[in-house]
Amino acid sequence: MEEFGPYTKKVIKHFRNPHNSGKIKNPSGVGKVGSPVCGDALWLYLKVEKDEDGTERIKDCKFETFGCVAAIASSSVITDMVKGKTLDEALKITKDKVVNSLGGLPKIKIHCSLLAIDGLVEAIYDYYKKSKKAIPKDLEAQHTNISKEREAVEKRYKQWMEMEENVHNKEQT
Ligand code: FES
Repeated sequence: MEEFGPYTKKVIKHFRNPHNSGKIKNPSGVGKVGSPVCGDALWLYLKVEKDEDGTERIKDCKFETFGCVAAIASSSVITDMVKGKTLDEALKITKDKVVNSLGGLPKIKIHCSLLAIDGLVEAIYDYYKKSKKAIPKDLEAQHTNISKEREAVEKRYKQWMEMEENVHNKEQT
């Protein structure tokens, strides 16, 4: 695929015209995640509905990303990928699948695709919680890891704010 600077044409296409950007009113689940590497953030919204045969499927998915080109493109492409999938099928989407569907990402930007995966996992976890369903073991373990990462981001952000405040106070004296 044709490349645009460090990015493929497809990445740039998704970045310029992201699919499914925004919120879902009354979502079935929301995933709120931050990258421990750069501090960027993503909120991913899901709407889950039952088919006539009772199978739960993702009917809609939207995102809000406060992040880089690769994070926005990954979020955009994952919302396309999950629509129509069951929750189990959606949980099988890996970062490699996201990266491949974008025609590749620079190595240094691979973590950005992980943000989209984490957002999806957290949104599904939130749905299980809200609907009081038994949470599968793997999903629980993934949620625990993501929560730890979020704590690290929040801690780093707090430290950064304190540092900024100290610099500001010094400048005032
Ligand atoms: Fe932060 Fe890409 S640099 S998600």
